[in-house]
Order: sequence, then structure tokens, then C-alpha cells
Amino acid sequence: MSRPPVEGGVAGLRTRLADWRRDGARIAFVPTMGNLHEGHMDLVRTAGERADRVVASIFVNPLQFGPGEDFAAYPRTLADDLDRLAGTCCDLVFAPTEAVMYPHGREGRTRVEVPGLSAILCGASRPGHFAGVTTVVAKLFHLVQPDLAVFGHKDYQQLAIIRRMVTDLDFPLQVTGVPTRREADGLAMSSRNRYLTPAERRIAPALYAALQQAAAGLRQGERDFVALQQAGMENIRSAGMAPEYFEVRRQDTLAPATAGDRNLVVLAASKLGRARLIDNVLVDLD
Ligand code: PAF
Repeated sequence: MSRPPVEGGVAGLRTRLADWRRDGARIAFVPTMGNLHEGHMDLVRTAGERADRVVASIFVNPLQFGPGEDFAAYPRTLADDLDRLAGTCCDLVFAPTEAVMYPHGREGRTRVEVPGLSAILCGASRPGHFAGVTTVVAKLFHLVQPDLAVFGHKDYQQLAIIRRMVTDLDFPLQVTGVPTRREADGLAMSSRNRYLTPAERRIAPALYAALQQAAAGLRQGERDFVALQQAGMENIRSAGMAPEYFEVRRQDTLAPATAGDRNLVVLAASKLGRARLIDNVLVDLD
């Protein structure tokens, strides 16, 4: 099986895309930071089901890492990623260098920011993270000009922020979310799971278990959100993790849930050794 072609430059990318557009192709885009796992493959498959051509990007975006975060350590596995994409519906990989994406450097240049939504939950402990995400995603959208962009539910807040950006800036594309792919024990697949030691790996599924327990409570009619959140934090802590937040929110706005809300999401983040794990469960009460 042959690997998909790789473009590293903007001109080459635009030439290929122009050919496809001339043929009337509908183009789907899957932005990634590489180190692809089955969760990413679900995104690629969804893209392939909904479009004629699929472009994936692989770029470890420095703008979305804060000081002291894992930018240097983040796994860069381009050769393995291309092997994984071989024989799939991915037609092209855009794998730019930092110099291609940020030719004038990282500082003092245009940023795209979604206020409010970017400051809560993960944004509270990672200031600037989501502005880094929206800046790179906006730039990638301009470069690829897809009809459709596909993101995972695992980064649910990221998905909500990108939807808001697309609405506010009238990007002419549709955003599709794909359910989280999990390991057999429930742990959400993530490139950062590789930071876990074997002992931590055994603890990690407790995050999803706590989310499921809260979701079951909501489905059974529990509406004391504060009590559910406190219990979730305690469940994660007693499993041996250092929880950051455990919150019941509205799916659309990520505002705190109120008793009448029907479409909820329970979100959690927790430190475990070197890893910071995030996960969420959607709860639709209708
Ligand atoms: O979800 C990710 O992998 C990244 O945040 C994204 C969307 C590719 C932007 O760098």
C-alpha cells in the first residue's frame, strides 16, 4: 500500500487543491499534530465518507503550548504516521515546518481568539492555549479551504471553540465532530497516553469511569450538579490522580448546566504523572 503524497509548502498544496476544485471535488480536512492513533483514523474515515478528497495536516503547533508544557517532548512520528495513512482514504498530507507556518516568527503577529469560551475549563489552566489552536486552525482553513473539517469529541472544548470561530468569521465550511475512540478499558485514545508509566496507565481509566458515573446519575434524574461535580473530583482523586476540574455543562455553550437543560456534557481534566488527561461524556436527556 502506498503512502499518501506529502506537501510541505503552501504553493504545492494550493496547486493540488486547485486541480481537485477544478474537477468539482468536495474536500474534507482533518487537522492533526501527528502521532496518529485509531482516534485519528476515525476522523479520516469520517472525512472520506463525506467528501471526495481528504487532506490531513500534521503540524505540532508551537503556539498552543505554554511555557513548561510538552512542546519539545511531543511525539513527532511522521514516517509512522504516513505508514498508518497508507491505503486509507487520505489523498494528501500537508506537513509544513514551523518556518512555513510562521515565516515571520511566533511573536507579535496576528492571532485569532475566541474570548470567553477559551478562558474556561482547560483554558483556565492553559492561558493562551486555545488562541494558539484557533490561530493555527484559521490559517490551515485559509490554506486548505475545505468544504468540511473533522475534529474529535475528545477535545470537546476545542471543538466548541472552533465551531464558534467558524460561525463568527463566516468560514464557508461545515464542522463535524467524531465520537472519542477508547482503549478496551475505557481510556480515551490520546498521543499523550504514552507519557503514562505502567502503574499510571492502570489508574488512568478511572477518569472515564468517574465521567460515566456522573452521566448515569444525570440520566437517572440527578440535578444537584454541584454534588455530582464534587463526587467526580473525589472519585478521580481517590483513584490516585490530581483532578483539575470536573464539570457538568451545556453542550452548545459550555455554560454551567441548569435544571432544564437537556443536552449536557460532563467534562474532566486531571494530571497523572507527566500526563494531563482530558475526557468527556455527552448526555442527551431527550
Ligand atoms: O487537536 C489537535 O490535534 C490540535 O489542537 C489541532 C486542532 C490539530 C491544532 O493544532
